[in-house]
Amino acid sequence: MKAKLVLLPGDGIGPEVVAEAVRVMDAIAGKFKHEWTYQERLMGGCSIDQFGSSLTEETLADCQAADAVVLGAVGGPKWDDPNAKDRPERGLLALRKGLGVFANLRPVKVHPALIDSSPLKPEKLQGVDILVIRELTGGLYFGWPKGRDSKDGRERAVDTLEYYDYEIRRVMELAFKLAKSRKKKVTSVDKANVLESSRLWRQVAVQIGKANPDTALEHVLVDTAAMRLITGPAWIDVMVTENMFGDILTDEASVLAGSMGMLPSASLGEGRVGLYEPIHGSAPDIAGKGIANPIGMILSCALLLRHSLGLEQEAASIEKAVDATITADARTADLGGKLTTRQMAEEIIQRL
Ligand code: IPM
Ligand code: MG
Repeated sequence: MKAKLVLLPGDGIGPEVVAEAVRVMDAIAGKFKHEWTYQERLMGGCSIDQFGSSLTEETLADCQAADAVVLGAVGGPKWDDPNAKDRPERGLLALRKGLGVFANLRPVKVHPALIDSSPLKPEKLQGVDILVIRELTGGLYFGWPKGRDSKDGRERAVDTLEYYDYEIRRVMELAFKLAKSRKKKVTSVDKANVLESSRLWRQVAVQIGKANPDTALEHVLVDTAAMRLITGPAWIDVMVTENMFGDILTDEASVLAGSMGMLPSASLGEGRVGLYEPIHGSAPDIAGKGIANPIGMILSCALLLRHSLGLEQEAASIEKAVDATITADARTADLGGKLTTRQMAEEIIQRL
């Protein structure tokens, strides 16, 4: 198979982990006789520095014309000025919107050898295998009006939490579809006791639930969901929620896996192009040191092979190699080890 991939290494540790992902993808291409072409583009803070814009129209067009997009991370203290016209994060949001990737899949599994890396009690972590599906192109991140003004001499800021029924329906349908090949349990997270948008969310969830009687549906309020992720994570199968709740809950869920550096994500939509990024950020504190954990990025490539290219065997080959590497006690600093980013990737490549 031939595939055209756009690489957006971004800022901070992004370039370090993307470089290793490319080495893994090349190893897969060699092993299974595929051919990838890469186009590397700037996005985020580096793009502001170079072009004065966090995402240029040309870069977005290149991404839209690719088979899949591999993204490292964006952001950093250099671009944190609250009064700046553009921010690295704006580029990321515009990219998600521009690709129409409304569903962000964030699988959270606990490798048995990493149970001790998590602050949770080992017995809570047995059998944890969660798929969080975060709605990605709606809600508070995109709602209008949004902005700052002043009224009667007081400063005011507003964000809008807006959802249309179709935006909820499509992500909910995907949650039920993916639950079918898992434990057939959907946990829909909302704040329906307070928010109007959540009452619509729940109404749509009930409708889709009725159309899928073979799958169990439960509704959990977001505050309770935050607690359940810690007190009983093994009960959760597929968790589906709106954009900002999903952002917050997946950082929390990453603690179950031992390190945020472990978690991959896939952003999918009705369009052809998927976006693949680890859930960790740009980690400015360790950027440039070559010690970042590349596993979240490498596992995101496995998701790319599976969801964008339909290459299940290749995807599983990466996932098995990562599992075996962890079992063999290979560890980067975030997991209490000493391996560099490159050495960790090498350990994985050897086991492909
Ligand atoms: C994530 C990140 C982003 C988000 C930021 C960098 C805009 O936290 O992908 O989880 O909030 O979506
Ligand atoms: Mg986040």
